[in-house]
Amino acid sequence: MRILLGISGSIAAYKTAHLTRLWVKESAEVKVLMTPAATGFISPLTLSTLSKHPVISDVQSETGWNNHVELGLWADALVIAPATANTLAKLANGICDNILSAVYLSARCQVFVAPAMDLDMWRHPSTQHNVQRLQQFGVHVIPVGVGELASGLVGEGRMAEPEEIVEFVRQWLVTSSAPLLLAGKKALVTAGPTQEPIDPVRFIGNNSSGKMGVALAEELAKQGAQVTLVLGPSALEPSKALQTVRVQTAAEMYEACQAVFEQMDIAVFAAAVADYRPKNVSSQKIKKTGADMQVDLVPNVDIAATLGQQKKAHQLMVGFALETNEEESNALGKLHRKGFDFIVLNSTRDEKATFGFDTNKITILDPNGLKKAYPLKSKQEVAADIVQEICSRSANR
Ligand code: CTP
Repeated sequence: MRILLGISGSIAAYKTAHLTRLWVKESAEVKVLMTPAATGFISPLTLSTLSKHPVISDVQSETGWNNHVELGLWADALVIAPATANTLAKLANGICDNILSAVYLSARCQVFVAPAMDLDMWRHPSTQHNVQRLQQFGVHVIPVGVGELASGLVGEGRMAEPEEIVEFVRQWLVTSSAPLLLAGKKALVTAGPTQEPIDPVRFIGNNSSGKMGVALAEELAKQGAQVTLVLGPSALEPSKALQTVRVQTAAEMYEACQAVFEQMDIAVFAAAVADYRPKNVSSQKIKKTGADMQVDLVPNVDIAATLGQQKKAHQLMVGFALETNEEESNALGKLHRKGFDFIVLNSTRDEKATFGFDTNKITILDPNGLKKAYPLKSKQEVAADIVQEICSRSANR
């Protein structure tokens, strides 16, 4: 493995000698890049001795111009550790004023960052925004540790330990070299709430954040599926790997799904679709009169049930059921009525599961009596479990 280790100016830079040593011991070839600030924290001589390559800390050096494009193409992984708030900000915004940011912009390999900073700098919305932006670009963020910081404060912001960084990169490379189980498959995912207008400023909606559905769509894409995500009003910004169709109402969601359903191999219905919509939508804001008022509602199309009737044998359909009571029998009713191959049951009685939380607790049920209950996990991990179930079932279709 060829690793470019990019070091920026943080006290955690002293740990990069050990990090370099760990990789070299594993027979990786390591080349080190340093920002000018990093050279104040650890000597380039230490790192060139350990890596057995000259350390590059400037776009120009005595030996000439350092070709950042070539370096970016040479590596299998660019690992920026420690990544300071300043370096993260530069990478997130395309600022290219040192060798490290220049190589980042030219790199075609996987990029990992191991942030290191004081806890208030880490928590600051601008840092968090930059980290999210980098994740959207496909950069892998190695989680920060919690503990004593150089400032004397205690909290989040410590760079991950060298052993953790080596393990994180190794894990990623192992998983990414595994065969993609859904390569060549097309998948449709519905996610988020729908909003049914009453007048130009009001609507009937629900509390769905879209997190579970978007996590599922991303996970399907990671397994090589070509994903169409039909997303109701949600603050989330899905990655560019997905083809996202934004909709507002259940009718729009149905139309977007119907347009592509026939070409799909997999359809996952994770949206919290409004069952009813106002019969009449006022073109002007409804004025208060002081008297009681009624909004007449008419049923919306059941997207999953309607598409379930058009389902072909090779198509795999997965539904969700969010229940408050008689969870299992309600979910089984929906499974049979809508023609799902399996249904993912959530209960509002489980703490930290369902709407708005980053965690979820699910049970998978199928028409043959399968019942798999999972513990409380992050929505990403839950998405991976559901996609694993999809992969094992779509292999035989
Ligand atoms: N669903 C759908 N279109 C609708 C309603 C629901 O596609 N108009 C899908 C959901 O995305 C979910 C499944 O059907 O996968 C079950 O949704 P849920 O709202 O729990 O079921 P309903 O049939 O609406 O039953 P109820 O609201 O009475 O519990």
